[in-house]
Order: sequence, then structure tokens, then C-alpha cells
Amino acid sequence: MTTAVDRFVTVAQIGQLAPGDILAIEVAGRAIVLYRDGDHYFAAQRRCLHQGGDLADGIVSRGHLVCPVHGWRFHVATGALAASPETCLATYAVRVTGTEIQIDPTPVHAAGRGGPL
Ligand code: FES
Repeated sequence: MTTAVDRFVTVAQIGQLAPGDILAIEVAGRAIVLYRDGDHYFAAQRRCLHQGGDLADGIVSRGHLVCPVHGWRFHVATGALAASPETCLATYAVRVTGTEIQIDPTPVHAAGRGGPL
């Protein structure tokens, strides 16, 4: 019998992020953004798939994480690019335990690009 390994690590406390806030963090050597949309927390790779814009300087708007450089919009939960959903940011599982926000630094899915951009 195997036991599932719990990889979640605490990265912030609830109350640190208001709705719409984005926090740059590093977990297990990975540059990640933790962000809040409404009452839900999400995490994705920090660098934009287009030209590496810093998503920590972006905004959360209408269900999307928006890059500050050229405005590419990624779905808050799936990381999918609105204009081309097969193109996705790497995303990470987030959970709240007590007052702690925790991330599993193993990507839910790796970043990927679909057709030509
Ligand atoms: S670098 Fe993000 S949209 Fe261009």
C-alpha cells in the first residue's frame, strides 16, 4: 500500500490578500504568483507565456489573470489563454488550512502552447 505524499507548503496567511491581489512567491525553486479572485485563491507560474511579462504586476479582472505587458488574459483557475485556450500557464493546487494558504509546488499541469501564436 502506498501513501499519498502531502507536498503542500504554507506560502501566506489569509488576510494577506484582498480580492484582486497578486503575491509573488517562490516555492521549491519555482517562481509563482498567488492571487485571489473573490473568495478563491489560485496559483500559476509567474512569467507570461508571451514574452515573459511579470504576472505579479498584472491584475485579476473578470475571472482572468491579466499580463501587464500586452494584456494577455489567462483564466484564473485553469491558466488557459482566453484567446487560445490550448495555451496554458502552469497552475498549482492551492488550499486553505486554518489561516494558512498552502500550495503544492508540483504543477497541476505543465505550461503548454497549442498552435502558432
Ligand atoms: S508578455 Fe505577457 S502579454 Fe506580452
